[in-house]
Amino acid sequence: SKRVSIAIDGPAGAGKSTIAKMISKKLKIVYLDTGAMYRAVALKAIRQNIDTRDEEKLSKLVKDINIEVRHIDEEQRIYLDGEDVTNLIRTPEVSIGASNVAVVPEVRLKMVEIQREIASKCSVVMDGRDIGTYVLPNATLKIFLTASIEERAKRRYNEQLLKGITDVSLEDVKNDILYRDKNDSSRAFAPLAKAEDAVELDTTNMSIEEVVNKILGLIEDQC
Ligand code: C5P
Repeated sequence: SKRVSIAIDGPAGAGKSTIAKMISKKLKIVYLDTGAMYRAVALKAIRQNIDTRDEEKLSKLVKDINIEVRHIDEEQRIYLDGEDVTNLIRTPEVSIGASNVAVVPEVRLKMVEIQREIASKCSVVMDGRDIGTYVLPNATLKIFLTASIEERAKRRYNEQLLKGITDVSLEDVKNDILYRDKNDSSRAFAPLAKAEDAVELDTTNMSIEEVVNKILGLIEDQC
């Protein structure tokens, strides 16, 4: 059968990973959370006391970094130099750090190489910021997922409460999202942007199921 690739981009908290995971299950194709890879780079920098905005040090850091994505029981685990860091990369510090390291071209080139390698072997649904514009310009289907800032902050906040994280306020979450949106959209190399041929979906007033069904319908139209 034909190889498909689905790109899901958009700002923080728009629901990209939730939607991408469900699409991957429905279509039985690999899900790749590219944000997790930038988070792993940030974690490595933080552990070495490197400023996540220090381009020179980060360029050096990624030269021999080993980031692996493994799929275990339908779940994606992320490995940094052989260590499973899946549960360590969801802190506010790592979120901001990821957005900072993602500005550095050498960091992006390294991550994009890994991402394209995976897409060359398997059908994938990938979520991120630059998948439709840069990583997979020939993707079968490109989606640009958005929602109002209030809605995105609320979703991310509720997600954290469910995980038992109670020391981060709704206001903190909103500020984190605003910082990253601005940083991600304004960088020079492969910024957060809607690809010309992407379908934009504003999910502010849509349920998860509605979004998934809408995308599955679009896939049928295209494949
Ligand atoms: O998607 P997530 O919130 O986990 O991504 C963390 C950060 O990684 C984003 O704020 C963004 O700066 C960066 N990122 C990126 N390109 C991608 C995916 C994530 O620059 N394809």
